Amino acid sequence: MKIIETVKELRNELKPHRQGTIGFVPTMGYLHQGHLSLVERAKQECDTVVMSIFVNPLQFGPNEDLDRYPRDLERDAALAEAAGVDYLFHPSVSEMYPTEILTQVHVEKVTERLCGASRPGHFAGVTTVVTKLFHIVEPQRAYFGMKDAQQVAVIEQMVTDLHFPVTIVPCPTVREADGLALSSRNVYLSPEEREQALILNQSLREAKEKWVQGCFSHADEITEYVRKRIQTKPLADIDYVETLSYPRLEPLGERMGERMIVAVAVRFGKTRLIDNVLLDGR
Ligand code: PAJ
Repeated sequence: MKIIETVKELRNELKPHRQGTIGFVPTMGYLHQGHLSLVERAKQECDTVVMSIFVNPLQFGPNEDLDRYPRDLERDAALAEAAGVDYLFHPSVSEMYPTEILTQVHVEKVTERLCGASRPGHFAGVTTVVTKLFHIVEPQRAYFGMKDAQQVAVIEQMVTDLHFPVTIVPCPTVREADGLALSSRNVYLSPEEREQALILNQSLREAKEKWVQGCFSHADEITEYVRKRIQTKPLADIDYVETLSYPRLEPLGERMGERMIVAVAVRFGKTRLIDNVLLDGR
């Protein structure tokens, strides 16, 4: 595996690989099995696998955890190499943003709710950096986790709207044995917070089971069920619980959708966790 820090060098290195399929796994590092599952899938489908590790300042709000976002390049490089990454792209902030940035990519509507509502500017930061990374790597396939289901919907919309020549491959959420979705931010949780955070996956799984059994008559009932279950945990401070159509992420209110997502964001202390479940076929 080669570690590369500049755009120019990566473009040069990738030239001879362009006859084959290039697969791309963008990340912010502090790798865990969720990230590595994307690499595994890319290995199966592509000749060359490129991973990026870049903590993108543009997608963090002023009061968010940019400065304390966990980083460990040495450990990440060892994990990426063992997983079979061919090129690890690790640019500096000044390499990615050499001048004041006056051009950004905004996706409308799909970014209005969920994390788009509670983190203003977040998705413009994501779509802008992903656009830049796609232009640098020029992958045929790019791998994203459904743990960030709204991110997948936003990027798919962008790729369709702007004719990016890349196939987006959504991959399932990887979880701990007890159901907690893997996240780089889990390291912030105290043992008590971590225990109570299990309610996220538990309540979503229960909601899916009840939906399969036909217990709900409309989307808002599902939301209320999950909200009440999460509220049983004293350390859980709910940011949002919503049941929306997927992938358009439109409110359904007293209707049911063909394909729905129940998505939650909950703070435990200073740590904000997200999780979701798709209701799509019983
Ligand atoms: P990051 O949070 O590092 O996540 C990188 C990729 O790993 C994303 O596609 C995310 O959905 C996926 N991922 C994270 N946890 C996962 C899990 N438990 N199971 C499966 N996949 C998981 O998402 C970002 O970085 C950034 O927004 C980025 C796309 C890199 C743009 O800066």
